[in-house]
Amino acid sequence: MTTHDPTEQTLAQLGAVDPEAVARQFSELRQRFDEQAARTSGAEAWRAFVVSWTGRKSGTLSHIGDNWLKPAPPALKRAIGQELNRLKDHIEAVLAEKSRGIEAAEQTAAAARSKLDLSLPGAARALGTRHLIRQTYEELQHIFLSIGFSVVEGPEIETPYYNFEALNIPEHHPARDNMDTFYVAGSRELRLLRTHTSPMQVRTMEKQPPPVRIIVPGKVYRRDNPDATHGYMFHQIEGLAVDTDITFCDFKGTVEHFVREFLGPQARTRLRPSYFPFTEPSAEVDASCHVCGGSGCRTCKFSGWIELFGAGMVDPAVYGFVGYDPGKLSGFAFGMGVDRLAMMKYGVSELPLLYQNDVRFLRQFP
Ligand code: PHE
Repeated sequence: MTTHDPTEQTLAQLGAVDPEAVARQFSELRQRFDEQAARTSGAEAWRAFVVSWTGRKSGTLSHIGDNWLKPAPPALKRAIGQELNRLKDHIEAVLAEKSRGIEAAEQTAAAARSKLDLSLPGAARALGTRHLIRQTYEELQHIFLSIGFSVVEGPEIETPYYNFEALNIPEHHPARDNMDTFYVAGSRELRLLRTHTSPMQVRTMEKQPPPVRIIVPGKVYRRDNPDATHGYMFHQIEGLAVDTDITFCDFKGTVEHFVREFLGPQARTRLRPSYFPFTEPSAEVDASCHVCGGSGCRTCKFSGWIELFGAGMVDPAVYGFVGYDPGKLSGFAFGMGVDRLAMMKYGVSELPLLYQNDVRFLRQFP
C-alpha cells in the first residue's frame, strides 16, 4: 500500500470537521477499497486483503470506530455513524461477491490438480524377458516338435547304469574318464549327476515299445575347469528316433532340416566321423559358418565350418539293454549343447555371461 492510511488519524487531525468533509473522507476510503479489491487476485492475497479491512483488531473498519467515531464531537457522531454503516454495507457486499468467485476458482484448481488425467502416458512396469538359454531351448524344441518329436524329461541325479552301462559304456571304459563325473555323497547306492541327457534314451525305450521319437531338454553336469566356454553345469537337448526302418538317410535328412531351420536356408551341413560308445556310426554335425558363409573367418577359425553337436545311428548294443530287437529296429540319436548353440548363434563370446544375470547382457535378448 503506497498511500498513508487515513484511519490511523482522527477526523479532526484530517481536518474533517463538518458533515461534508466527513462524507468526503468516507467516499475517498470507499474508492480506496474499490481500487484495492479490483487489484487483488489469488486466494492468498485476497484473504490478506479481507483481513486488512475487516480484521477485528487492526482492520480499517475498526480503526474508523476507534479513531474517527469515538473521539468525534457529539455533533458529528451521527453523520459518521451513518457513513460508516454505508461503507460497511458496501464492503460486505463486495467481499461476499468476490469471495464466492475466488472460492470457486480455488475449488476448480484443486480439482484439476487431483484429477486423474487419462491422457497421460502410463507408468510403464518393467517386464522381464525369457533368458537366452530358455529362448534357445524353445527355438530348438519348436523345430523338433513340428516334425513329430515329443518332449520328455528325466532325473538329474542318475545311476551309473543309466548314465554309462546301458549306454554301452562299461566300468573301465575310457569314456567314463572323459566325462569327469560328479558323484553324490552319502547315498547307499552309487549316484551321480548325469553327465549328459542320453540316459533318457534308455529310460524311454525301457518304458515304451517302438516307435520312439523324443527330445529331452535338461541340465547336465561335468567336473570341468570353468573357463570362457566351460562350466560345472550346462544344458542339453537329447534326441532319439527309433523305428523299424530308419536309415542313415533319415538321420542325415533330419539333421540337415534342423540346421536349415536353426541357422537359415543357406546353411549347409557336414557330417564328420566321430566316436560315441552308444552310436555307430557316430558323427559330429558341422554347419557352414553362419558368419562368413563358409569362406573362412575368425568365428570358424578360418575353416568355414562350425561344430554343432554329436550324433549317430543308435548302436545295436543299446537295444540289448532295453529289450528292443536289434535285428528289426534302427534309429538315430543326437545330443546338443544348448549353451554352445546359443553362444554361436547370438555371438556370445563368454559362457559366464549366460549365468551372471547382468541385465545389461540379458536386455540384448528381449
Ligand atoms: N551324449 C553325448 C554327449 O553328451 C552326445 C550324443 C548324444 C552323441 C546322442 C550321440 C548321440 O557328448
